[in-house]
Amino acid sequence: MTDRTLALLKPEHLDPAGLEVINPADGSRITAVTRHDIPALTAIIEQADVARHAWAARTAKERSDVLRAWYDLIIEKAEDLARLMTLESGKPLDEARGEVKYGAAFIEWFAEEARRAYGEVIPSHAAGKRIVTLRQPVGTCAAITPWNFPLAMITRKAGPALAAGCSIIIKPAELTPLSALALETLAHQAGIPHDLLRVAPVFRSADAGDLFCTHPMVRKISFTGSTRVGKLIMAKAAQGVKRLSLELGGNAPFIVFDDADLDRAVDGAMASRFRNAGQTCVCANRFLVQAGIHDAFVEKFVARAAAVRVGDGLANPAGMGSLISEMDVRRVADIVAQAVGEGAVIAGTPPAIPESGAFHAPVVLTGVSPAMAIASEEIFGPVAPVIRFTDEADALRIANDTPFGLASYVYTRDAARQWRMMEGLEYGMVGINDGLISTEVAPFGGVKESGFGREGSSHGLADYMNIKYCLLGGL
Ligand code: SIN
Repeated sequence: MTDRTLALLKPEHLDPAGLEVINPADGSRITAVTRHDIPALTAIIEQADVARHAWAARTAKERSDVLRAWYDLIIEKAEDLARLMTLESGKPLDEARGEVKYGAAFIEWFAEEARRAYGEVIPSHAAGKRIVTLRQPVGTCAAITPWNFPLAMITRKAGPALAAGCSIIIKPAELTPLSALALETLAHQAGIPHDLLRVAPVFRSADAGDLFCTHPMVRKISFTGSTRVGKLIMAKAAQGVKRLSLELGGNAPFIVFDDADLDRAVDGAMASRFRNAGQTCVCANRFLVQAGIHDAFVEKFVARAAAVRVGDGLANPAGMGSLISEMDVRRVADIVAQAVGEGAVIAGTPPAIPESGAFHAPVVLTGVSPAMAIASEEIFGPVAPVIRFTDEADALRIANDTPFGLASYVYTRDAARQWRMMEGLEYGMVGINDGLISTEVAPFGGVKESGFGREGSSHGLADYMNIKYCLLGGL
């Protein structure tokens, strides 16, 4: 234990012979955490399924107050949580601080929403009968969360689950379990019953996924991760007819029309593409730029990318951090090499990067065509391919020509075109003249192979509740 932030972990979270957690910025070992085998995970599910009844029987206000206490503790420990996140994920400290606030906001939001889980009285179809609906918790939930947002992807699942009256077991990503375990510590300190919310790093993710999909006590699974794994979960979960929320891969288009505010578009491009070193599902993955503004946009974008400072997230809090692993650096470098082999050009000179650690420079590629491999794969790294287009129909056709449908972005000053694009883009989310769309108050989620279910907003609570229809006769 080398950092004071590890004090947020409980002794039982740590096991010197357990799962090693590595700082991707320098390859050093941070600590090792306890892993759960299948019998241990089964016991956790069974305990959670007992704990949920007393929790659901509490009033909505009582649940809300406990969630609020959790939120307050997260905010109190925000700096420690942010440092821990930077250590295990490589993201720069300022972004980690932002994620702690963003993640905490889901707990605050759902503490408030807990009190608004209203049912309905439906005008009856017959005299002497009345119809009401109740909204009830789905039961015990399992969350499988990714490494790119080690804290916020947990709170936006645990917040609504607990607000609804469910229990939840969280399997965090192997690469970033520390933020998750620290959140568990704070949850229990805030008064969330021990068995109601558990964070369980495991030996093998696939085995844990299978258990969640097949154990009869798990009634819902929420997964954020790749479309490939999402499909496996969906197929397996069919056996137990589990409720699912799947937040999967994306291939976000970032469309800049000739009439766009150029500086605003470049600001949005920087934020959307290079946030978290390009490792987000909603990152702009393809830049579609209209011919008339193309060269001016590229010039400014390349200059801004070249000025990014890349380095260790603690020492370089406002710059760009590392990727999650050296393997990912090689994967991203291969994507760039293939694009260059197909005719793309690296524009300008990318900034210098540290000699060791999992770093990749931000790169802007021009001369990209929709037919190149890079235009159809999720890059998950700091690479911005720019495609030139001619007119609106062309942009919409290229943007929608993908199996994915998570986030999309459009820059134009024309209000009528803004509406046409909002309606025409086959995506779950559209940002108009803005590159950062994530917030706890809005429904985050995709369509097509980017998944289904919504996180955040009042819809996020509905995903953890069943509607029960009750008919009262003989009145
Ligand atoms: C994600 O990459 O899955 C989430 C990004 C966000 O919440 O903004």
